[in-house]
Amino acid sequence: MRSIYLEDGKVVLLDQTLLPGELRYVECDDVDSLARAIEELKVRGAPLLGVASAFGIALAAMKARGRPRREVMAELERAAARLRSTRPTAVNLFHSAQRVLEAARRDEDPAGRAVEEALRIYEEDLRVNRELARRGAELLEDGDVLLTHCNTGSLATAGYGTALGVITEAHRQGKRLLVYACETRPLLQGARLTASELVEEGVPVTVITDGAAGYVMRARGVSKVIVGADRIARNGDTANKIGTYQLAVLAREHGIPFYVAAPTSTFDLAAASGEEIPIEFRDAGEVAFVGGRRVVPARAEVLNPAFDITPARYIEGFITERGLLKPPLG
Ligand code: MRU
Repeated sequence: MRSIYLEDGKVVLLDQTLLPGELRYVECDDVDSLARAIEELKVRGAPLLGVASAFGIALAAMKARGRPRREVMAELERAAARLRSTRPTAVNLFHSAQRVLEAARRDEDPAGRAVEEALRIYEEDLRVNRELARRGAELLEDGDVLLTHCNTGSLATAGYGTALGVITEAHRQGKRLLVYACETRPLLQGARLTASELVEEGVPVTVITDGAAGYVMRARGVSKVIVGADRIARNGDTANKIGTYQLAVLAREHGIPFYVAAPTSTFDLAAASGEEIPIEFRDAGEVAFVGGRRVVPARAEVLNPAFDITPARYIEGFITERGLLKPPLG
């Protein structure tokens, strides 16, 4: 099941908002429709957002092919600006856009080079995640009881996943694991996506409400917590799906090691600490309505941060394609 691909001058992506009920691919044939798909979380997860943003610039390049160099570059810059305006936290989206633009700028055929670089980013993500999974799986032991948050599987990447890739790789190696997946309010990436991927892989998974994490750590023998990341600052402070911070604090309270699994493309060495990481705030409706029904009184305020920052001191280590890293990372 591919999360995203380029075909016939279009970006084709699996609409993740419909999972697990419906498997539907949507085609984006211009940058704006792809940008909207990102804003609506049809496509999501930091590494996949990196690929999507590269593919978005490739889309613009394919349309601009044959035009004078200056016009092509202007189209690519315009595409990059639209894509950068979609979601502020996942740094992969920004890194990829920059990388494609720079490659195009240096080439005589900027359009052709942009498409080439975008495909390279896709292939690289696959390769890097496979390596990350292999290295991370060495940390997991037979009998581990794991807790994870949000979705970090192949759906959130070009393939293999990050934290979930580590878990599925260890499972394939024959280690017996039990995974608790936080449902991940408000958009339920844990319940809808992580549980689907683990069931598909044959890994025993139990979905819990986000509020049950403390109980489960205390009463169900959780031995490791492993999550993904959207942006990691130089000092190791880590932005990830809202609710991650409280899991890290709870893990410390219970003496459970807390790992972050992420490719090095998720590191933002320009950010000295979590203070410099922009947090996305999303529409109140995502919290106020469940299944189309209002569950919060209309006159109550709703605050809906999509991410939080986990201070580096709670993090045992970063599982990357280069092995286990410890902060500071610069
Ligand atoms: O809002 P989302 O679904 O894009 O958030 C995703 C996460 O927080 C993931 O944990 C993170 O991007 C890592 S994905 C390998």
